[in-house]
Amino acid sequence: MSSTMHMHGGIGESIKRKEDARFLHGKGNYLDDMILPGMLHMAILRSPHAHARIKSIDTAAASAKPGVIAVVTGELMAQHKLAWMPTLSGDTQAVLATDKVRFQGQEVAAVIAETKYQAEDARDLIVVDYDVLPAVISPDQAKAEGAALIRDDKEGQKDNHIYHWESGDQAKTQAAFKNAAKVVHLQTFYPRCHPAPLETCGCIADVSSVTGKAVIYMTSQAPHAIRTVFALVTGLPEQNIRIVSPDIGGGFGNKVPVYPGYVVATAASLLIGRPVKWVEDRTENLISTGFARDFHMTGDLALDKDGKMLALHVHLDSDNGAFFADAQPSKFKAGLFHIVTGSYDIPTAHVTADGYYTNKAPGGVAYRCSFRVTEASYLIERLVTNAALEIGMDQAEFRMKNFIQPEQFPYTSATGWVYDSGDYPKAMNVALEKLGYDELRKDVEARRKKGEVTGVGIASFTEVVGAGHGADFDILGLRMFDSAELRVHPTGKAMLRMGTKSQGQGHETTFAQIVAEELGIPASDVAVEEGDTDTAPYGLGTYASRSTPVAGAATAMVSRKLREKARKIAAHLLEAAEEDLEWERGKFSVKGSPNRSKTIQEIAFAAYTNVPDGMEAGLEGVHYYDPPNMTYPFGTYAVVVDVDKGTGQVKVRRMVAVDDCGVRINPMIVEGQIHGGLTEGYGIAFMELITFDADGNCIGSNFMDYLLPTAWESPLFELGETTTPSPHHPLGAKGVGESPTVGSPAAYVNAVIDALSPYGVTNIDMPLSPDKVWAALRGAGVTE
Ligand code: CDP
Repeated sequence: MSSTMHMHGGIGESIKRKEDARFLHGKGNYLDDMILPGMLHMAILRSPHAHARIKSIDTAAASAKPGVIAVVTGELMAQHKLAWMPTLSGDTQAVLATDKVRFQGQEVAAVIAETKYQAEDARDLIVVDYDVLPAVISPDQAKAEGAALIRDDKEGQKDNHIYHWESGDQAKTQAAFKNAAKVVHLQTFYPRCHPAPLETCGCIADVSSVTGKAVIYMTSQAPHAIRTVFALVTGLPEQNIRIVSPDIGGGFGNKVPVYPGYVVATAASLLIGRPVKWVEDRTENLISTGFARDFHMTGDLALDKDGKMLALHVHLDSDNGAFFADAQPSKFKAGLFHIVTGSYDIPTAHVTADGYYTNKAPGGVAYRCSFRVTEASYLIERLVTNAALEIGMDQAEFRMKNFIQPEQFPYTSATGWVYDSGDYPKAMNVALEKLGYDELRKDVEARRKKGEVTGVGIASFTEVVGAGHGADFDILGLRMFDSAELRVHPTGKAMLRMGTKSQGQGHETTFAQIVAEELGIPASDVAVEEGDTDTAPYGLGTYASRSTPVAGAATAMVSRKLREKARKIAAHLLEAAEEDLEWERGKFSVKGSPNRSKTIQEIAFAAYTNVPDGMEAGLEGVHYYDPPNMTYPFGTYAVVVDVDKGTGQVKVRRMVAVDDCGVRINPMIVEGQIHGGLTEGYGIAFMELITFDADGNCIGSNFMDYLLPTAWESPLFELGETTTPSPHHPLGAKGVGESPTVGSPAAYVNAVIDALSPYGVTNIDMPLSPDKVWAALRGAGVTE
């Protein structure tokens, strides 16, 4: 790498993250750090029951408490037509319950007081009289004859079914199954888990009684879309709504939806005329905000006699909770689950999906996931390992045999996805080499002979990230483009504003690196700003690994636009024809006369002081980028485990992760993203579970019950990479943020299945806690 490149901080340089200085010094500006003059505090009363009719709410004692300004109920919200709000999937959701509560933790009333403690104390004095109803806590219960009707508020809703959705070709798939030499079946459950960001959700609503301007500071991953939803829900003019997402302490999809707390705080500020702050505590976050997964899946894979895949059939029942609030493009009711054919050349597939209401919190958020791709990847990778075990072929060899081959790209999958690029055998080979696979398999056999329970698991995932194209991908009708606005100041320093919003991914660094690469202004001279809807260009936000594929592309495009104007100014300054100039990062020079040149800084100054006649002054522009296709990152993850026969404890001895996210803008940040995601995948595979008892009480409402991995439990990760550029992204980049969370759970579980397979155990559902593994071992007759 040349020293000039080093100075610039261009693409491919692992420069340190600019934002970390303020975070590491404790100078971040998170929502709960903010104090506005005259600010009030809000506490929300939540339902203790999963399903109950509200007979009455008595707020007298709470209202009489010192410091209390208002107690808000659903009835009051209904007077302002705000008792219900739309969800991201086009359903309705109660803001404050008026008729029934439909999940434990649902918002029932809110207290606004001078201090947080006064608000919480008064909240405890609200008396609600409930008539408890039977709780429905699974799709099986939801569809059972005589099941309690959860959504009796919806006209015409006679049962708990929400949607039926299909993809692929049923007739062709059925025919292929008829001719199969072997059918491998897997029934599995991807349990409900939670994104659990370090910072919980919250807002400060500040509505001016003089101007009517509503400024709402909010922990949102998608501030622009939220502004539009707010305008439509409240009827406030959109220019009078300003959403500001300050620093965000992790989002992982949890901070995409509109939560009732935001709406109540805004309504309260509007009515009271003072700022109102609401910040959830940990339990509120875990029990009431957007969960992830909760898919019950069955998969059947048809094979010919040589182990070639012929067809795939998949069905899933989705547990959506009490309101259908999944964050996903409106065309795709089960998200992007129909990428379930994964990395394999499967001639035909048929996918069916049904969604059900249950008495659980709504959500279905894209937790480090492109709208349900995680569940799809888990199902196919589990099925593939099980198939290899059943036919007695090595897992890696079986995958190699069935991969879509590099020369088949662009490849149209059986469910209609056009994979733009890929080289799956290459990623597999890098992983196998790192593992020393042949030796490892021999070592596994030797250990097994000694009575050890050990195994290797592989997952070769294909991802689909970077929504849109806008014609196919939208959120509530808003097309999924994204944007970048670049303004170069006279001294050659720049301000880049974007429609995305970092939650810790390092956007302030990587997007500056893109400008550095494309316009030659050093990354250190480019300030990046996101999250303020009054200043940033409109965009759909950051989730589902779309920032680099979409806003990163917009940044490259706007930089190139400015470079073209810079060329014109340089031609004027150098008294040369535009076509006689050549660009080298940071300057234009006259072809053949390298000494006759103008730097981008000189050109920027001229843009304000010496433009040619007839040219607009200034050097700025905006680009709205609508991607022509998704990007398709992929990789192979491989895990080696040792299982303790006495305790059922699983120890991950090795974890090799080979990722291909195309061109890496900042390799160090990419590796950080991968470490984080592999840790989250580990947590999901072994520890994290939000479950419910028969009455619908949420188990997993705090970090004593909902176990997150720390550095102590997490395995050591051995990373590898391949680089297959995306053919349509201007920089050849693909997303990476979610890949490790999408790909790794199946690798961890497959390793345990491989370890237990000699004893006939081929299926255990996550999380693989010691008690479950112990029970499986004992069930198979294994003793210490
Ligand atoms: O949307 P989000 O920022 O969560 O995800 P992403 O774009 O997939 O990637 C997460 C971060 O990794 C980006 O913000 C970039 O900082 C970095 N990245 C990169 O440097 N090069 C890539 N090819 C992909 C991501």
